[in-house]
Amino acid sequence: MLPNASQPSVTDHVPVLAAEVRGLLAVRPGETVVDATFGAGGHSELFAEDLNGSGKLIAIDVDPTVRPGFERFRRHAGVQTRLLRGNFAVVLSQLAGNDVQADAILIDLGVSSMQLDRPERGFSYATDAPLDMRMDPSAPLSARELVNETDERELAGIFRRFGEERYATQIARAIGRTRKNQAITRTGELVDVIKSAIPTPARFGDGHPARRVFQALRIAVNDELGALDSALPDAVRMLRPGGRLAVISFHSLEDRIVKRFMRDQARGCVCPPDFPICVCGHEPVLRELTRRAVRPGAAELAANPRASSARLRAAVKV
Ligand SMILES: C[S@@+](CC[C@H](N)C(=O)[O-])C[C@H]1O[C@@H](n2cnc3c(N)ncnc32)[C@H](O)[C@@H]1O
Repeated sequence: MLPNASQPSVTDHVPVLAAEVRGLLAVRPGETVVDATFGAGGHSELFAEDLNGSGKLIAIDVDPTVRPGFERFRRHAGVQTRLLRGNFAVVLSQLAGNDVQADAILIDLGVSSMQLDRPERGFSYATDAPLDMRMDPSAPLSARELVNETDERELAGIFRRFGEERYATQIARAIGRTRKNQAITRTGELVDVIKSAIPTPARFGDGHPARRVFQALRIAVNDELGALDSALPDAVRMLRPGGRLAVISFHSLEDRIVKRFMRDQARGCVCPPDFPICVCGHEPVLRELTRRAVRPGAAELAANPRASSARLRAAVKV
């Protein structure tokens, strides 16, 4: 069994790819910036510095526990700030629908260190805690319901699709057997079931044996890919011409969505290649600022190993 920790630990938050985000978004005084994933406010601190006393910063986060940190940030930000609590997929659509315009938008996906380091949120396989994983604690579906109430075949599909888990079927079957006797309610129990379902040698390769299943559950519980898919067009709709969008993703599923979206929006004519002349009249909406995803350098990785899977892409509205 895992150690049971019920007290949150205090973390020093380090924003990922900070210099690179700052360089690409190039925020200037007087601009309007949207930090769509406020978290611990690390990136917002940098944007506030770049706004240098004039402009606006709109912060969004689905997790209500960011509020006290936001209030501390607001006191010294030196610019007009607002926290909009909600899913960025919904909030960006509302802002765009109300003709709110922005010069720079950042979406830094996934969970924050604060969420990971609070065992009671149930995101971590490293500490025994209630199985939860909701970024929005008022959302109806937690990992506990998903694990105990989803049929085995669907569970295996989730592990395969969102976690690229090789032993998805075996793990889903082991979950099915276990929950017949008693519901799985704790992260530690789930880790034990996962370990029991995979061959012994596989438990020692490629990171923690529960890493992929935990990632898959988190993505499913929070509909992370659905939110990203629907937020990107609204983010672009909000940008003024010359406005910049940056997205940091933490696994290939997210990065693929961002890459395809930016490529599609940066394309001009979308007529089939054998058409002699263009009939679509399609104009590029974005110009990519990053041909390839930007990855953290050695110094950042040494200081912050959690940044290792981060990939940053950015584009400017033409
Ligand atoms: C990686 S952290 C952001 C860290 C932040 N950039 C910083 O420097 O402190 C991601 C944050 O985004 C929030 N988040 C994730 N998905 C979201 C969504 N769909 N809508 C709103 N907030 C979301 C999480 O609750 C979390 O606080």
